Amino acid sequence: MNVLVTGGLGYIGSHTCIQMLEAGIKPVIFDNLYNSNESVLGRIEMVTGASPIFVKGDVRDKEKLIKVLKEQSISAVVHFAGLKAVGESVEKPLEYYDNNVNGTLVLVDAMREVGVKSLVFSSSATVYGDPASVPITEEFPTSATNPYGRSKLMVEECLTDFQKANSEWSITLLRYFNPVGAHPSGQLGEDPSGIPNNLMPFVSQVAVGRREYLSVFGDDYPTKDGTGVRDYIHVMDLSDGHVCALNKVGQTSGLHIYNLGTGNGYSVLEMVSAFEKASGKKVPYKIAPRRPGDIAECWADPSKAQRELNWKAERTLQQMTTDTWYWQSNNPNGYPDH
Ligand code: NAD
Ligand code: WQD
Repeated sequence: MNVLVTGGLGYIGSHTCIQMLEAGIKPVIFDNLYNSNESVLGRIEMVTGASPIFVKGDVRDKEKLIKVLKEQSISAVVHFAGLKAVGESVEKPLEYYDNNVNGTLVLVDAMREVGVKSLVFSSSATVYGDPASVPITEEFPTSATNPYGRSKLMVEECLTDFQKANSEWSITLLRYFNPVGAHPSGQLGEDPSGIPNNLMPFVSQVAVGRREYLSVFGDDYPTKDGTGVRDYIHVMDLSDGHVCALNKVGQTSGLHIYNLGTGNGYSVLEMVSAFEKASGKKVPYKIAPRRPGDIAECWADPSKAQRELNWKAERTLQQMTTDTWYWQSNNPNGYPDH
């Protein structure tokens, strides 16, 4: 099976390409290099021994997409490409709606023209807004609190309407919880440009000496230790989830929605302490005010994915932190030309 992977050089996309290759699926990477660089290709090759086809392109370029879909005999698309920084989305909403919403509409239009009718979309637990309770099931009401989240929600709604009108399509919405970790080889991992927005890249940059201390955003939440609680999931488990989705429902018409999480919640301080243990490094931190828009706690009920996709997150917190540290300590400044 040849699968077009938009955003395939990014953090989650690159790990998913590896797991696809291991599972005998051929990824064709389509990425505009906005938040990635080509050296990732060499790393994928190093780890798998295979060199995936790479096409530099933007998902808003319909003609280019049509050409690749045809030339590479693509039978399904996994759509990671997009912008993902919550804070930036508040400053630049148009860019987010254009890239994330318009980009997806152009992609689906191109697929329709070529007759490729299977799509897996990267959605996010952010579509649950501030959930009334935990764990969160796929039936929970959805809402958005910022343009990034709204763009994901809009895409989910557009795809739902589209699938209703085109019942022969298979559309899968995967709602990721908090992806962390890296490939166990230490060759691939998360490489944010600038100051990391997310907890684990920040923690690992403190541990490696690139930043002085971590600001813990709030210690007065109604949680086990007062700090925010999230469902951190190893990026390799998340990647396996995509392979399972492609294999189990990728050829079955319908709208398929799954939470990809572990079902466990860890606090910020628990993550810091697990990271210190894995790295043998001290991670100095200071308690700071709450970050606007943050919720107290959030974790998944992942049982639907287990039941229907036969997928379950297997990797432990220790593996998440050990693999993050292995990547960060081997690549203190991320990928070479970033
Ligand atoms: P990433 O930024 O590492 O990867 C995204 C990739 O898409 C990059 O390689 C970038 O160059 C590419 N890209 C961006 N706009 C493009 C465009 N218009 N055309 C072609 N390529 C484009 O991000 P990631 O963490 O790997 O996230 C992948 C997807 O998963 C995103 O859609 C993101 O919103 C979603 N997601 C991420 C998280 C997370 O915490 N990382 C959580 C939930 C959902
Ligand atoms: C986790 C916890 C912070 C940084 C975001 C997006 C979500 C999804 C994943 C894409 C929270 C605390 C963080 C720091 C801290 N992305 N924290 N100091 O906010 O759960 O989710 O990324 O879809 O849409 O909103 O993840 O990693 O930013 O934060 O104390 O420097 O760590 O307050 O409790 P979040 P995060």
